[in-house]
Amino acid sequence: MQGREQFATRFGFIFAAVGSAVGLGNIWRFPYMLGENGGFAFLIAYFICIALIGLPVLLAEFTVGRRGQSDAINSFENIKAKSFGKIGGFLGVLSGTLILSFYGVIAGWVFYYLFSYLTGAAGNVESGGFEGFFGDFIASSVGPVVWQFLFMVVVIGVVYFGIKKGIEIANRTFMPMLAVLVIILAVFGLTMDGAGEALSFMFSPDFNALGDINVWGAAVGQAFFTLSLGMGAMITYASYLPKDSRLPSAAGTVVVFDTFFAVFAGLMIFPIVFSFGMEPGAGPGLLFMTLPEAFGQWGLGGTIFGIFFFLFVGIAALSSAISLLEVCVSWAMRRFNAGRKPTTLIAGAIVTVFGFLSALSQGAIPALTEMKLFAFLNTEGATITFLDVLDKFTAQYTLALGGFVTALFIGWGWNKVEALRETGLQDTTLGNLWIWFLRIVAPAGILYILITNLISMLTQ
Ligand code: TRP
Repeated sequence: MQGREQFATRFGFIFAAVGSAVGLGNIWRFPYMLGENGGFAFLIAYFICIALIGLPVLLAEFTVGRRGQSDAINSFENIKAKSFGKIGGFLGVLSGTLILSFYGVIAGWVFYYLFSYLTGAAGNVESGGFEGFFGDFIASSVGPVVWQFLFMVVVIGVVYFGIKKGIEIANRTFMPMLAVLVIILAVFGLTMDGAGEALSFMFSPDFNALGDINVWGAAVGQAFFTLSLGMGAMITYASYLPKDSRLPSAAGTVVVFDTFFAVFAGLMIFPIVFSFGMEPGAGPGLLFMTLPEAFGQWGLGGTIFGIFFFLFVGIAALSSAISLLEVCVSWAMRRFNAGRKPTTLIAGAIVTVFGFLSALSQGAIPALTEMKLFAFLNTEGATITFLDVLDKFTAQYTLALGGFVTALFIGWGWNKVEALRETGLQDTTLGNLWIWFLRIVAPAGILYILITNLISMLTQ
């Protein structure tokens, strides 16, 4: 039998894991969540959720993957046959498919914006015109499908070439580019007039909103999403690791970089938003309407900034989408005993075609744009778009549930000594702390959020 594919270098794995974590979650989702949930309070809740739930669960996923040496479902089985753990894996492959189908749509919008800035089309939009520019684009029945398709072709192309030649090389190219771009963009942002206001929005202490349960629900969901947790992406990547790499330091590195990118995304976006007197709480449209509106008032500088900015977001989205597809491909290869290349093409095609439904759900097809059946997922309106159904359903429920199962598997289901040996944390305080976080703190936190989400959904 052929051996399992492996990363060529330790850094290859770190780059890939950071690449998976840093994505639309950091640059699109985090800033708008921060804007909607009161700035500083959300930041604090988010830091707490990352430290108490995100980091322990991330290390748990690394441990399951490296020990199990298989895909998101079978890794659990390899460690302990007939364990409840693989329920988490099933949820994972399901969520992976659903998330990638709409993630590709939003990434497609990003590349359309990059293209529009490059051709000058976006630079010529008149003041106040981006609502129409964006609205017309996403409601059309051709553009969003074409751009999603193009994006998915690149994602499928990378996964097609496997771990070393595809995923590792792509991430080793992309991550340094991202680091350079984010620093340039943040320095730019911080030299603008609105920088002071932005800093006080993000960092001036205001603990009132911490009493609001919705802020905490949003923060936990964001922690899972941004660290790629709860669906086996990190299990799958860690299964391509050799035995001698250190898991705790890898987990720490991913968390530090991911948080760094989120905070810096805020530091580049909010100064611009405030400098041009825009609203920070614009929601998902922040990236596609508010920010371009601000770029527009800035003239040529804004167009140049726009090019670099959407290039940055696009690259970040690409490396995350690659990890989502790899979860499905890795599972399907084993399940159907098939080679990587045909599996990637078929799985990629299925996800892409399913994604068309999300791409067409922003106005093109009324039945998908104003869904009543799933309206209960939406706390704000009487109908919901198909894309939002997938986003809310995964971020608020299946990811958290997947993380819950993984935490319980390490905490209670498997064997504490073995788990600690796999991480190299045996007989350390840190190791014991980790186990207790997985036994009590993380599951309790997740359960609390799941239940309050459920209640607020049912009683609205
Ligand atoms: N973490 C990525 C982001 O922030 C998205 C992502 C990639 C993801 N893989 C995932 C989210 C797995 C949840 C689960 O954009």
